[in-house]
Amino acid sequence: PTMKEYFANDFLIGAAINMNHVKGNDPKSDSIVRRHFNSIVAENCMKCEEIHPAEDTYFWDDADAFVDYGQRNNMAIIGHTLIWHSQLAPWFAVDSVGNPVAPEVLKQRMHDHITTVMTRYKGKIKGWDVVNEAIVEDGSYRKSPFYDILGEEFIPLAFQYAHEADPDAELYINDYAMNVPAKREAYVKLVNDMKSKGLRIDGIGMQAHMGMDYPDFNEFEKSIEAYASTGCNVMITEWDMSALPTVSRSANISDSIVYNTVFNPYPDGLPADLAERWNCRMDSVTDILLRHSDVISRVTAWGTHDGMSWKNNFPMKGRVEYPLLFDRDYNLKPFMENRLAES
Ligand code: XIL
Repeated sequence: PTMKEYFANDFLIGAAINMNHVKGNDPKSDSIVRRHFNSIVAENCMKCEEIHPAEDTYFWDDADAFVDYGQRNNMAIIGHTLIWHSQLAPWFAVDSVGNPVAPEVLKQRMHDHITTVMTRYKGKIKGWDVVNEAIVEDGSYRKSPFYDILGEEFIPLAFQYAHEADPDAELYINDYAMNVPAKREAYVKLVNDMKSKGLRIDGIGMQAHMGMDYPDFNEFEKSIEAYASTGCNVMITEWDMSALPTVSRSANISDSIVYNTVFNPYPDGLPADLAERWNCRMDSVTDILLRHSDVISRVTAWGTHDGMSWKNNFPMKGRVEYPLLFDRDYNLKPFMENRLAES
């Protein structure tokens, strides 16, 4: 069976795809996606800096092609992302001389951006990551142009505008390190508060960028349960797992934001023992996801094959990483291949 058959009674199985893929320059990735996945998300082309580069300029070509691709292939298409501090168009929160705009101006810009983008794809997109990465690991709000200018209200406002723009679209909040307890509590409170105000929110997205020693799987599982307790669907939205060992660690920051800074330590490929440990860990994660498939509506990998992963270039260019479900030769990795073969 394929992955989408294997998980058919559990959750949607998705992949982030980029323009290389959409434009047909990676035909093997294309066949993987059409064969194994029933959902896609845009890796970059719907982000503010790409789709709305100047106040009166929208760039639709790439996002249109991405949505067409999903429609042609009958996939659940996910929009990523409307309000995010990163990859934000430089003009968005400042005036013509670079000072922060007044609250009313930022509200208007958020409203116009959300309305214009969502209206264009109304009826075609299943759901949107409305707000991305708004809370940090200690449970406080992230400093960002949105928070600095509007305070915490920017979040409910974004959801209100999004619901007005497309009342049929599902609306999600999304973040990384969602296993961290203080962050978990903050998100549960935020979502419950929004719901009690009557705002629509359908899903809580756990990015799930993992490594060989994070996240703590117990905390990860507790988070799935806690997010589900709000009545929202839980989504694993950006699943990948760094295989390279972590070399730096600070007691002050959570495991989940410790990125490895090794420069291609394995020029001959990932050593077999490491690959085996990686497979075991991914298999354990898959068990957790299946155990909670009643509340998990979608699991999306942040890419298709290792060769296209953002982790190859983050945080250092030249890294060679092994974080995805398919290897550089487009073979499904053993932990998943075995599941399919045994089913
Ligand atoms: C990443 C993309 O994969 C890269 O191509 C881009 O250069 C930077 O952004 N959290 C998110 C995603 O929500 O949008 C990010 O995607 C990865 C971290």
